[in-house]
Amino acid sequence: MFLLTTVRKKFDMAGDKVNVLFVCLGNICRSPIAEAVFRQEAKKAGLDVYVDSAGTINYHEGKKPDSRGQKTLNKHGVEWDHRAREITNADFDKFDYIFGKDESNMSDLKGMQPRGSKAKVLLFGDYYSTKGKIIRDPYYDSGDAGFEQCYQECLVCSNGFIKELQG
Ligand code: 4NP
Repeated sequence: MFLLTTVRKKFDMAGDKVNVLFVCLGNICRSPIAEAVFRQEAKKAGLDVYVDSAGTINYHEGKKPDSRGQKTLNKHGVEWDHRAREITNADFDKFDYIFGKDESNMSDLKGMQPRGSKAKVLLFGDYYSTKGKIIRDPYYDSGDAGFEQCYQECLVCSNGFIKELQG
């Protein structure tokens, strides 16, 4: 019984970990970048975190991040391993923090959050040097520049949030 409890604790996301979910529209551009960058920065800071990402739509379900996002993460040596999925009602109780990237994500998330669920729904860009920063969607851009900008913004916001978690 003791062993079972210990093992379950080790692999469960419940416990002392901080559970963080990054959300965007399609879950192939911004939120998988945020997920991978935040996981790396939290690891460097010695924080015990469980990190995932999801989209507000299911259109890209099961897909790897956009190839331009993969290229950007690879260029910066950030590990990633994600397949797109749609956010579920259960996520609002599994995660302590759910971060949207723009006003549209925020209004979708607030509209779908079940009453009484535990997650704090926050704008990730509130951890940028200027509060309220929108992490804009690079999907319709023709090249890599928007993905690089997204990476840089996620890096700044990750470290801003990590500082707050460290109190
Ligand atoms: P993301 O970007 O929300 O950052 O993953 C998008 C990806 C796909 C679409 C829109 C935004 N789409 O319309 O398919």
